[in-house]
Amino acid sequence: MNRTENKKTQFLKIEKESAEKLLRLLKTKLPDENILDKRIITMHIGHYVLFPLINDEKKVNRLIECIGNELTFEIINAKGKLDPNHKFRSLEEALEGELPEDIIDLIPKSYDVIGKIAIIEFDRFNSLSVDKTSLYKKKVAKAIVKVNKKVETVYEKKSEVKGKYRLKELRPIFGVDNPETFHKENHCIFKLDVKNTYFTPRLVFERKRLSLLKFAQNELIVDMFAGVGPISIQIAKNNDVKIYSFDINPTAHKYIIENIKLNKLKGKILAYSMDVVDLKNSSNEVGINLKNRVDRIIMNLPEQSINYVDIACFLMKKTGGILDLYQFCEKPNPIEKGIENLRTKLNRMGWYIEEIINSKIVKPFSPKSDLIVADVKIKYIM
Ligand SMILES: C[S@@+](CC[C@H](N)C(=O)[O-])C[C@H]1O[C@@H](n2cnc3c(N)ncnc32)[C@H](O)[C@@H]1O
Repeated sequence: MNRTENKKTQFLKIEKESAEKLLRLLKTKLPDENILDKRIITMHIGHYVLFPLINDEKKVNRLIECIGNELTFEIINAKGKLDPNHKFRSLEEALEGELPEDIIDLIPKSYDVIGKIAIIEFDRFNSLSVDKTSLYKKKVAKAIVKVNKKVETVYEKKSEVKGKYRLKELRPIFGVDNPETFHKENHCIFKLDVKNTYFTPRLVFERKRLSLLKFAQNELIVDMFAGVGPISIQIAKNNDVKIYSFDINPTAHKYIIENIKLNKLKGKILAYSMDVVDLKNSSNEVGINLKNRVDRIIMNLPEQSINYVDIACFLMKKTGGILDLYQFCEKPNPIEKGIENLRTKLNRMGWYIEEIINSKIVKPFSPKSDLIVADVKIKYIM
């Protein structure tokens, strides 16, 4: 149903003079029940007001019971006009009357919005028939569009994030299958492709935290797994630093280059499309240039970052620098496990942790593990 379509609706028809009393009674006697359907326009016809009711028999019966002795009214069926100015606040509200009640519980509680694209994962629809599943998914997708006026396309997430480039399979369930969008975050703008690059809006606060850290003037930073550049760009936007950003995915590289321009950061961020392992090749000029000169290294490739600590040691100043290392670690005590992993790796290479500046769980990752970050000062054992 689009925003102007008519909808078959039950109305409570009441004389104009009694309308105010009805609203008062609803407020005092049924304060927790949203019985009036705020999505539909209230009609004024002659001496009558027609209040649209939500499609819930039990609630309507309670209303009748509650005001039956106090007011004269009629319940009628008519075509209701959707209010084009109504703001849907939640999926639940936008789906009211659209799905059987037992399905509502199976609707995902959250979804991601990236620019004009929404991404949702239906992990509890497995028990339903194929026909019903696809009908319900379409209804949920339409409801997402109603709640988020900027969303034009809804994708269903069909796989976990996987592979070298950390991508997920997406299937369009509403709108045009165009995965490119612009996304605003913390006063920066990002152009990206949700199918062919990695990006999650769920790290918005973590990126904010990083961008507000204390950086020395002209600090030399490496963003090892930069993607389309959300971390590099937010740090460079707020600080007087120089960042070298790397990504192995050529599509991510194409977008970070655009994003550097979009955010007017040319010269502050240098982006390279390459495997960071190659930095250690004796003929790699970027590696030669950065070797043991870097002040800070950000490693946001949680499932693999620990395996690249040798590259960090190759680049980091031997007199000491800061590593911001993201890892997925098993519960219990994921932070302790993450730091111990790092300590073991470093010690094998002749480095050590001088100080743990900050460590925390960024977000839960799975029932068994969390995403953790440790900002640590590391030094070469001289
Ligand atoms: C989890 S994503 C993080 C992207 C970005 N930091 C962000 O916050 O959106 C990891 C990125 O590392 C890249 N990557 C994986 N292995 C790499 C490697 N060996 N060298 C350079 N980049 C790599 C992937 O292509 C992916 O874009």
